Amino acid sequence: MCKPLKVMAVVGSLHEKSVTKVAINHVAEGLREAGCEVDLLDLAEEKLPLVNTDSTFSADYYGPLKRRVKAADVFILGTPDYHGSVSGALKNFTDHFWKEFTGKLFAPIVASHEKGLTVHDQLRTIARQCYAWSLPYAVSFEEKKDVADGKVTSDQCKGRLSMMARDISVYGRILASQRLADLAGEDPTFMAQLR
Ligand SMILES: Cc1cc2nc3c(=O)[nH]c(=O)nc-3n(C[C@H](O)[C@H](O)[C@H](O)COP(=O)(O)O)c2cc1C
Repeated sequence: MCKPLKVMAVVGSLHEKSVTKVAINHVAEGLREAGCEVDLLDLAEEKLPLVNTDSTFSADYYGPLKRRVKAADVFILGTPDYHGSVSGALKNFTDHFWKEFTGKLFAPIVASHEKGLTVHDQLRTIARQCYAWSLPYAVSFEEKKDVADGKVTSDQCKGRLSMMARDISVYGRILASQRLADLAGEDPTFMAQLR
């Protein structure tokens, strides 16, 4: 039997009633139904210090978090749109890791009143810099239109999130299986840097 796809879902808002978290929980439900394992990383609860290159990368203070990130095949990266940008919390999470993202899939979700396109672009740039793949789209939604009382309410947003869960499950498995084959093989692929 093949192993379940491991998805880390990162909530990049520290706000207690975060709508980003609501959308992420909605996708997570769809993924679990599709047989994936979802590891929720809520940065409001699991605080990460800001990257400091004097100490961060030499210290082993990540402990289990590093193992969780390493184990993940896919990262759902959820963030509110802050001034057309990724939230500081999510950016800091991505700064802590890079090798752990290589060859894996990013799936961005953005809470924005303005479609969040600049935020999508920034997440694609981070994916490129870390040799990660990105879904060819992101899901943006609006707190007042798409979410109420801790639930996703609009059919349009539900449809986009279901599509994302389906695509993560299908493309995530294809990429994870190729990643493992490339790590074990001898082809001159970008994955060779991790052999
Ligand atoms: C500092 C700050 C900057 C923001 N800048 C933008 C912005 O440029 N565009 C936008 O659409 N919303 C902006 N917002 C609104 C949030 O993105 C929006 O309220 C989002 O739904 C919050 O998500 P959350 O509940 O998950 O934190 C900003 C909010 C804050 C606090």
